[in-house]
Amino acid sequence: MYRSHNCGQLRMSDVGQTVTLSGWLQTSRDFGGMTFIDMRDRYGITQIVFNMEDNEELCARARKLGREDVIQITGLVRERSNKNPNRPTGDIEIEVQDLSILNESKVPPFTIEDETDGGDDLRMKYRYLDIRRTPVRNNLIFRSKLAIETRKYLDGQDFIEVETPVLIKSTPEGARDFVVPSRMNPGQFYALPQSPQTFKQILMVAGMDRYFQIVKCFRDEDLRADRQPEFTQIDCEMSFVTRDEVLATFEGLTKYLFKTLKNIDLPDFPLMSYDDAIRLYGSDKPDTRFDMHFVELNDVAQGKGFSVFDNAELVVGINATGQAEKYSNKDIKKLTEWMQRPQIGAKGLVYVKVEAGGTFKSSVGKFFEEAALQTWADKMGAKEGDMMLILSGEAEKTRKQLNELRLEMGQRMGLMDPAVYKPLWVVDFPLLEWDEESERFHAMHHPFTSPKKEDQERMLNGDHETMKALRADAYDLVINGVEIGGGSIRIHDRALQSKNFDLLGFTKEEAEEQFGFLLGAFEYGAPPHGGIAFGFDRLCAVMNGVNSIRDFIAFPKNNQGRDMMIDAPSPIADEQYDELYLKGTYSPETKG
Ligand code: AMO
Repeated sequence: MYRSHNCGQLRMSDVGQTVTLSGWLQTSRDFGGMTFIDMRDRYGITQIVFNMEDNEELCARARKLGREDVIQITGLVRERSNKNPNRPTGDIEIEVQDLSILNESKVPPFTIEDETDGGDDLRMKYRYLDIRRTPVRNNLIFRSKLAIETRKYLDGQDFIEVETPVLIKSTPEGARDFVVPSRMNPGQFYALPQSPQTFKQILMVAGMDRYFQIVKCFRDEDLRADRQPEFTQIDCEMSFVTRDEVLATFEGLTKYLFKTLKNIDLPDFPLMSYDDAIRLYGSDKPDTRFDMHFVELNDVAQGKGFSVFDNAELVVGINATGQAEKYSNKDIKKLTEWMQRPQIGAKGLVYVKVEAGGTFKSSVGKFFEEAALQTWADKMGAKEGDMMLILSGEAEKTRKQLNELRLEMGQRMGLMDPAVYKPLWVVDFPLLEWDEESERFHAMHHPFTSPKKEDQERMLNGDHETMKALRADAYDLVINGVEIGGGSIRIHDRALQSKNFDLLGFTKEEAEEQFGFLLGAFEYGAPPHGGIAFGFDRLCAVMNGVNSIRDFIAFPKNNQGRDMMIDAPSPIADEQYDELYLKGTYSPETKG
């Protein structure tokens, strides 16, 4: 028997028992006569003690142990004289009577404690050591529980988990595909799924009614803190449903997960139209933990001779409450420079401080009289002590820039409390996006997304300009400024689907070639259907108030898309190129 108990289990009620534990040596403290060791396993840490007076030989062996050695001890549980209230096992310790070394460890390359000195790449290279650390291990335990509870909830709602293939044909999510050459079909490639989108729709045609899958998806796109090339979705599809039924089901799932895993009761999720999200927050994923919404000032700020405003498509600002005194001229200059960095690209930043007695101090004071500035303050609800921050320029760009400023101010003003959760549904997205460069429409969500019912007639018969205004029956779940999930009601009508492909610039042959299998299936009685997919890694991170999804992935990739532990991607052997008919693409070594 390797152990009678684990390292997180023993309490005062176990005092007097002889126990056997196995685990890793986390730290060791030697006080001459006594050696104290923190012994760790998945369940916790227990202090074990070696006493020179009791057993000199045993104590000498204990002193030679190194960090991360795997040991087994047998000993007596006793009450500790100086207790550690921060540890569940902190009231007791084990007086060791027997010690075996199960395996020795090399000196680990970084400290394996809650706080570590290891950099990102080093920790990823030795991920097995990193996972021994409590915070990383707890994240993986959280993830496991979240998946189990998701399954429980969806099972309770009659969803069936179906596995869809990983070696498929390109899916229409709009990122680049990872491709896999087929040895048996020379010159042909599979694509890894960017999502199981087409399969889940086919499962609806197949009459499964309610499908879900916790599934790996693959997208070859640039990486960020909230993006990995392979990530996991809670992917779902439902038949005979309206938008509101899909939203109710997944609002229910989200509330259930927050209650079960965090004991948080989320309020009902408000709906916000895409247009409002853009107009009020400059983003389709607004962080609504704080307000500070945009106020448009064109009608009061233009026509007063300040050419920067007069020539702008949009003049728009936010009110930073209580910030007037906190920002010196130097601070405002720094904030302006921050806005002017290429990542944001603002030309400048106008401020107006509301000072004592209702007077104003502003960078544009010489262009505007007090009365004019007062109208701005009225519109923005700015009171004494507040600071209005205003940008102007081309509408879309200016809104994006002000979104960055709003988030920065929210952060600086401490309004983005990680313990507060503000979910909302963003709805009524545009169906199509016009791309000036390629002069064609792109699907904002994907080509199977249905226009809203009231727009279907206009889609079939309208002109080019009408198409730009079509609204999709699509929705995103946003929590604290993060897009957690997205989905839509799908087109199940052949005429609408052909029209959509037409607008997206597919010829009949191209549509047939890429999606023939789905269009074919649709001819055999496709039910009205819709669905959604949550980013599972993102949900884990947001529920824990963390930005980076890597912390919740057992073996993540770094910013270059590399797995540092197994060192992938890596070259393949020349024979493999041959076998896979990848002619003319031999590895760099043999190419010359
Ligand atoms: P979408 O492309 O919006 O929709 O993806 C759904 C959710 O998946 C998460 N996500 C990612 N998470 C981590 N890394 C990535 N690279 C990444 N890309 C996306 C996001 C996102 O909201 N088939 C449709 C769903 C549907 O229509 O039912 C789809 O995949 O949280």
